[in-house]
Amino acid sequence: MNEEVTFRKMTIADIDAVYDIETLSFSLPWTKEAFFYEMVENQHAYYVIAETDKGIVGYCGLWLVLDECHVTNIAIRPDERGKKLGERLMKAAMEIAKEQGAILMTLEARVSNHVAQNLYRKLGFKNGGIRKRYYSDNYEDALVMWVNFNE
Ligand SMILES: CC(C)(COP(=O)(O)OP(=O)(O)OC[C@H]1O[C@@H](n2cnc3c(N)ncnc32)[C@H](O)[C@@H]1OP(=O)(O)O)[C@@H](O)C(=O)NCCC(=O)NCCS
Repeated sequence: MNEEVTFRKMTIADIDAVYDIETLSFSLPWTKEAFFYEMVENQHAYYVIAETDKGIVGYCGLWLVLDECHVTNIAIRPDERGKKLGERLMKAAMEIAKEQGAILMTLEARVSNHVAQNLYRKLGFKNGGIRKRYYSDNYEDALVMWVNFNE
């Protein structure tokens, strides 16, 4: 449970490993080019890597704009799930967001993704609105969740 984990900023060198986890985790995975764009072009992007002695086990993408932080994606390698790594990664990402000046942190989750919603709720996120037919593979609705660090 108390596995040694390092949290650090993602670089271009991590794209292949992150992309592998992305494709194992999402039905609409981002492309490698999208991650490349995030690393080299997007001034607002900050991606956090979770690394153990097994290599890169997860990542969490943030867009930081003024006092708002949007979580673009978070995933833990399937064979490493259920060991509190997602929780520790999300907590690390929340600390980074605060350090970078964010007051509000938001994200979307598929309405069927109760695992992710449980994690966010556990860390203080509240339900916001619903974005109807948000996901283009099955037109599932997205639940918007948010946390205000000042509350
Ligand atoms: C969501 C995800 C990052 C969670 O990471 P994880 O390391 O497996 O989760 P943790 O072990 O840290 O669990 C933390 C909390 O998440 C929730 N959770 C985790 N696994 C769960 C499960 N199988 N069922 C219900 N809730 C679960 C619980 O609230 C848990 O806290 P608890 O154990 O005290 O109840 C991981 O499941 C994942 O990568 N999923 C695929 C990608 C994805 O859906 N990302 C989110 C997109 S919005």
